[in-house]
Amino acid sequence: MNKMIEIRIFQQEMVTMPEERPQSDESNPVVCNKNRKLILALFAFSLFAITLGLAFYAHQQKMGDPWILLLKSAAPPCLSPACLKASERFSVTMDPFSRPCDYFLSACGSSSHRGRQRGKGIVIEGNGGQDKKRDVGSEDRVKMRGKTDVQEKHDGLLDKFPDRQTALLKAIKEMLDRPDEGAMSTAEQKAKKFFKACMESESPEKAGSEPFLTLLKQMGGWAVSGEWIKTLDFNSTLALLMSQYSTFPFFSVYVGPNADDGQTNSNQPYIQIDEPHFQFPIDWNSKTQKSKASSQYLRPFFSSCSQYLVLLGVPSSRTTQHCGLFMSLSTTLALATSPLPYRLSQRLLYHTITIQELQILAPAIDWLACLKASFQPLPISQSDVVLVHNLPYLIHMSQTISQWKIQHDIMGTDPLHTYMMFSLLQTLIPALDSRFTKTMKNFSIATGDAQEDVPRWWKCVQQTEQGFETLLSHLIRERHAQKEAEELIHDIYSSLKMKLADLAWRDEKSPGFIFDKIKSFTPRLSTETNAPNHADLNQLYAEVLVSEEDYFSNYLQVLLLEQKRRSRLLSHATQAEGLSITPFLSGNDIIVPVGMFVLPFFHFSHPRALNYGTLGFLVAKDFLHLLLPDIHKQAKNPELESACVWSHYLRVTEGLGRVDAFSLSPSKQQEVWVQYSALEVALNAYKMSFTRCPADSSLSGLSYIHLFLSSFTKVSCDADSYREFMPFEPSFLVSVLCSNSRFCPKPLTCLNKYQSYPPEVCLSQTTH
Ligand SMILES: *[C@@H]1O[C@H](CO)[C@@H](O)[C@H](O)[C@H]1NC(C)=O
Ligand SMILES: *[C@@H]1O[C@H](CO)[C@@H](O)[C@H](O)[C@H]1NC(C)=O
Repeated sequence: MNKMIEIRIFQQEMVTMPEERPQSDESNPVVCNKNRKLILALFAFSLFAITLGLAFYAHQQKMGDPWILLLKSAAPPCLSPACLKASERFSVTMDPFSRPCDYFLSACGSSSHRGRQRGKGIVIEGNGGQDKKRDVGSEDRVKMRGKTDVQEKHDGLLDKFPDRQTALLKAIKEMLDRPDEGAMSTAEQKAKKFFKACMESESPEKAGSEPFLTLLKQMGGWAVSGEWIKTLDFNSTLALLMSQYSTFPFFSVYVGPNADDGQTNSNQPYIQIDEPHFQFPIDWNSKTQKSKASSQYLRPFFSSCSQYLVLLGVPSSRTTQHCGLFMSLSTTLALATSPLPYRLSQRLLYHTITIQELQILAPAIDWLACLKASFQPLPISQSDVVLVHNLPYLIHMSQTISQWKIQHDIMGTDPLHTYMMFSLLQTLIPALDSRFTKTMKNFSIATGDAQEDVPRWWKCVQQTEQGFETLLSHLIRERHAQKEAEELIHDIYSSLKMKLADLAWRDEKSPGFIFDKIKSFTPRLSTETNAPNHADLNQLYAEVLVSEEDYFSNYLQVLLLEQKRRSRLLSHATQAEGLSITPFLSGNDIIVPVGMFVLPFFHFSHPRALNYGTLGFLVAKDFLHLLLPDIHKQAKNPELESACVWSHYLRVTEGLGRVDAFSLSPSKQQEVWVQYSALEVALNAYKMSFTRCPADSSLSGLSYIHLFLSSFTKVSCDADSYREFMPFEPSFLVSVLCSNSRFCPKPLTCLNKYQSYPPEVCLSQTTH
């Protein structure tokens, strides 16, 4: 992950767009709907029967709530197509109750070798840094690669839960794959055609490097090939790359609010200017506070440059000189880059400056012309304010450009131009033949930054998203924004408030502060209000011509669409928030993106036990991470509860080959508490939902609560993005919960010597 992305993750929290309340507000989560009435009647009867039949038992067990029994009773099967698919998942899932002694030791099977890939980028410590590096804003997702998907079905457990990103991409793929229906908008037709062309197109392989060479020629060629007509000067070339090809060679440009102005509610979008993303690793010397390209990677860097030039038909006699210059310019520019923590400490982030002032400080760039081109047709003027994230870099970059221009004008090598064309090549590699991708991959292997190969559909969905984000967000919303999703969000938030009401605080001020904060937020499903209608969407994509044969030209249009999107963002248009995958704050709203409510995490026809055990738990966990990143400092419970859970774990695993007992670090303590609380919150939310509407279905003949707990086990095993902060498999939390909860189908204790220990009580009042 590059640094630019890291900065944008800062803003992601703050991204706020003016919107009205969604419909859900006036309709407080609904009671059961009409077609459930019959079932309800049936259930009322069975509830009565069961209550009666088990009254004696219940009396003996001193159970007050009759529906606890109901929760534990067998449920009618769900037979919807989505449920039948989900059943397959569950037929192979690990059932905590079938192996009560040790399911949590190997439940997640091969999980140990599935350690999450950690970004190479810099993470600001503290204040929930762990949140920020996981899921990134929509623009950045395009650049992220697949993680767990490729392993699917490889490690014994059939049908793992994918990570959220994969799940969303799959949902988009399914929409794009659907056979054409009559009433489809032309925008939708274009997106589908684009995806199809990407999946089927043979053209990149057939065309080889031809499309890029043609494009180069249109732009006057380059010094590297010896055929160069200087049609455009430096500034015009740069403006052209920025506007037509979404390429930012010397600095990057994006749009977002000012996260640093102290007003979280201010949504005003600004142009932001940052360091560019360099292709090679850069070392930061914290003593001298200087950056330097890592010398061990210079050779592979050079060789990948030569390989590209060979692919472009440049005679090898020329490559040494031009690649040498290219490398030298790149590494010189990189000298003034610096990592985020340093820039934060030096107050270099969100520096406010007018374009005019920037022009004086960094005169080698025609800033006004470049920014005008990037944001056409919006009017940009000298007095407009932009936010820069590393002014010293921009000054250094400008000086470097001026020096190199003077030095090389005479020699006719113009490395500045070559550098820009190389940047263009990098942008276009996804649309070129596989030899280019292989060269790029080879270099990333050499630098240890290689990502797993992703399937073609994955790349094609991402590229479609890159161009058609607004449309896809609209389609996802149409398909997945349902009443059931709103109910789930509402139940989880209510249950969370109850949980927090139980906490014991370290000082008297905290609860007031926390409760005001929690009360001031309204969680809601992302549904954009000034969302485009069909006509707007058709208009938006009116100029796009998708070709079935020429994928390169399709891709160029995607780059043009990116420019349009940037302009729309700057002119306050709503951002396509449906395609995010984690909740985020927007003014006083907590936006829960519709993109989270996709299979297999959620389906309106699923048993609610499954939806709440899966997505309910994830949403609860996200809320806790988002709202209370430092709760362990304010409340006493996290420390106590996680210590209790941990000692429970130590006791139960004693003699089972556990490595030495160690005490938990604060971040692990916190995560244990968050996950355990999220499980309680989700269970309680399900209980609320079930009380409101005691009709639910189930899978594989499991009781409601059994299905809920198995769903939790499954999702936390397969798709826990906080795994690295957990000292044990999260599924162990079921044991803790069940050691003292009347909800569980049966106690999770086993018949061995460890059973003799009295069960730990790690419960808060909510779950009693
Ligand atoms: C990959 O890189 C190595 C050096 O880093 C080079 O020797 C090899 O030829 C490259 N292979 C390809 C396919 O580019
Ligand atoms: C780009 O334009 C600016 C402003 O007109 C000018 O000062 C600068 O010299 C130009 N840069 C180059 C490298 O020609």
